[in-house]
Amino acid sequence: MSDAHLLLLGVLAATAAGLWAWRRWHYRSYWLVVAFPLTALSVWATWRKVALGCGLTKKRQRFWFTTVPGLVSSTGVVRVRRRFQRVAVDTRPFMWLPMPTRYGWRVTLHTLEGQIPGDFADAAERLAHSWGVHAVRVSSPRPGRVVLCATVRDPLVRVDTVPTSAELLKVTVGRLETGGPWVIDFRTVPHYLNAGATQSGKSNLANVLVQGLAPQPVALVGFDLKGGVELTPYEPRLSALATTRTESVALLDDLVGLMTSRMAVCREAGTRNIWQLPDEQRPTPVVVLVDELAELYLMADKSEKDEIAKTSTALLRVAQLGRAFGIYLFCSGQRIGSDLGPGVTALRAQCSGRICHRVNDPETATMTLGDLDPAALASARAIPAETPGVAIVASQDGQWYRARSFYVSEQAAEHAATAYADLAPSWEDLISGHAVRMSDADLADFLDSIPDPRKA
Ligand SMILES: Nc1ncnc2c1ncn2[C@@H]1O[C@H](COP(=O)(O)OP(=O)(O)OP(=O)(O)O)[C@@H](O)[C@H]1O
Ligand SMILES: [Mg+2]
Repeated sequence: MSDAHLLLLGVLAATAAGLWAWRRWHYRSYWLVVAFPLTALSVWATWRKVALGCGLTKKRQRFWFTTVPGLVSSTGVVRVRRRFQRVAVDTRPFMWLPMPTRYGWRVTLHTLEGQIPGDFADAAERLAHSWGVHAVRVSSPRPGRVVLCATVRDPLVRVDTVPTSAELLKVTVGRLETGGPWVIDFRTVPHYLNAGATQSGKSNLANVLVQGLAPQPVALVGFDLKGGVELTPYEPRLSALATTRTESVALLDDLVGLMTSRMAVCREAGTRNIWQLPDEQRPTPVVVLVDELAELYLMADKSEKDEIAKTSTALLRVAQLGRAFGIYLFCSGQRIGSDLGPGVTALRAQCSGRICHRVNDPETATMTLGDLDPAALASARAIPAETPGVAIVASQDGQWYRARSFYVSEQAAEHAATAYADLAPSWEDLISGHAVRMSDADLADFLDSIPDPRKA
């Protein structure tokens, strides 16, 4: 072998090693500079074949000119003698150049006549396999356009560390599949349902919230009817904690009373919610964490019937009015089915924030994500047990995403709860406002005046 060959081999080996090291140590820049341009070119160049294979093309009649008559014939049997002829060709949806995203790429397409975004969603799995990517998600920013978002590898296998939250009642709890932050913002979406099978990561999400909200000027309240095992460690930062049914009835009573007094303050000031009050008059927002929602509705024996009815009504009332008066719900549960009673169904309608971790029964997924795309339900049921913390979340833009929460151990959340214990307002101080009783007619009046966020 000549020296030139050896040199060439050496250079190639060094380049390969360099690329490997680059990919390993700084995947993002490697992806942008090396891998993405190649991927984009190949996606663009093979689009006709891929679209054809995935059934996304349409037959169109085109004039065709050929110098050799008979070469182009749509049937292959009839020999056409003209140089100009009309033939049926497969047209693909027009594709713009792919753009890089953090975990893959995104491309805009123009739909062909008769195509809807659903056609692309149906073909998403085929597209993912054709391109060799982890997943392809479809959205439609406006009629006639479809955006395909490809993620090259599952970005949720490992998510990084928790950023601190700067804004009141807003916590970045994890990452979306798109690479964007998964944000829980109680001021935009006031109440949340957080469902999932056992060991799916529900409590972990509550831990992230506790850690994120602990340094903020908010009051935290807990309902933990699983004997208090989940929330008791955070008691230093909680203003109140109910671990038995009797305690929860009393605590809910207090919450309804708190709401009524805040309502009176708002009425006096002529505002519709506490956020329109001047700063010095604005009461502390309250975030209510419920671990295992079903426990609040399940009856051990007949004697509890009244208490359950009371609990159910009070919780529903908190959900209906809470958003205007700074009381927010975060309800976790393994099962959120209609079998728990009409109270749960009504509560569910009030909770516009939906988070569905891995679930075993289709009913919980349907109850949690019910009004979303069926593909979201399928996705929720396909979450593997090896990735706890992965969930399907309904976002404010009406879309759904796969997301994964940051891992926050109980110790870390407990540490935050202890460190910020002095920020917990005492329950007595919180509810000592002038409690005013309101008639049902007044309440109904108020309910009417508050817009439903789901309709907004
Ligand atoms: N985002 C995450 N990243 C990594 N590990 C996680 C994540 N979320 C949860 N886990 C792990 O999964 C395990 C189960 O989580 P968690 O206790 O939150 O489940 P759960 O849904 O509350 O279960 P249960 O219904 O039994 O209370 C935990 O031990 C935790 O270590
Ligand atoms: Mg739990």
